[in-house]
Amino acid sequence: MALVLSIANQKGGVGKTTTAINLASSLADLEKKVLLIDLDYQANATTCMGINRGSFNKSVFDCFKREASFSDVRIKTANPLIDVLPAKTMVEGVDEKIIADSNRDFILYELLQESKNEYDYVLIDCPPSLGYITINALMASDGVIVPVQCEFLAMDGLTQLLNTVRLVQTKKKVNRENLTIYGVLLTMLDNRVNSGFQIVNEIKTYFKEKVFQTIIPRNITCSNATFYGVPVTVYSPKSKSSLSYKKLAKEVVTRDE
Ligand SMILES: Nc1ncnc2c1ncn2[C@@H]1O[C@H](COP(=O)(O)OP(=O)(O)O)[C@@H](O)[C@H]1O
Ligand SMILES: [Mg+2]
Repeated sequence: MALVLSIANQKGGVGKTTTAINLASSLADLEKKVLLIDLDYQANATTCMGINRGSFNKSVFDCFKREASFSDVRIKTANPLIDVLPAKTMVEGVDEKIIADSNRDFILYELLQESKNEYDYVLIDCPPSLGYITINALMASDGVIVPVQCEFLAMDGLTQLLNTVRLVQTKKKVNRENLTIYGVLLTMLDNRVNSGFQIVNEIKTYFKEKVFQTIIPRNITCSNATFYGVPVTVYSPKSKSSLSYKKLAKEVVTRDE
């Protein structure tokens, strides 16, 4: 059985995409088969998995428009254990199609039913909003990982996200399914800045054992890897950020057992 995890926070720049690609890569290092779904129009996760934007026609957004099937859009990557449902920039009319769809909250859920169990983990990189696409991601998920940047106003917007999670939990109950907060991930901690540690304490006080023990440090190698279009775990396997994502993958697997 696959475990489907959304990586969500409507705030931009908190490390969602970085977490999605590096967790995918690190889970594959643990011999897990992973499907990575890119739901952001910026298509950064797609690019960072080494998929050239010009190399495919249909994206996951065509699935949302019901104009493509799972196998039409699935792409294999350089890593035989990782497949991707890619995103594309400038896809028009997706929201309108979703709104008009009689099963609008379950489009992604339905799309995954057939093939998700070919994988151990399905990771969904969510866009920076709580719109229809994110709702679809949460409806299709067993759990949500919430990256929180260790900076001023880190808690900002989390209440809204938690309200959305609760809404989805209520909807999923009808099908006897659940959506858990799988874990809160502290990202981009700068060891030299005291306020970062204050944020860590604040988040731990609020979310308690939900907070992953692994904290992702701020590390320039991480953003450099993005530039080269690869996960940092591939670009610089011994770097601090790479080692922390490998540690996170072990924690994710342990929570699943
Ligand atoms: N641990 C880190 N150390 C340094 N830079 C990071 C780290 N994690 C992410 N970044 C950089 O921060 C920016 C935002 O990260 P990203 O994962 O794209 O956030 P989101 O998907 O939430 O918008 C990117 O430029 C990324 O390379
Ligand atoms: Mg992103």
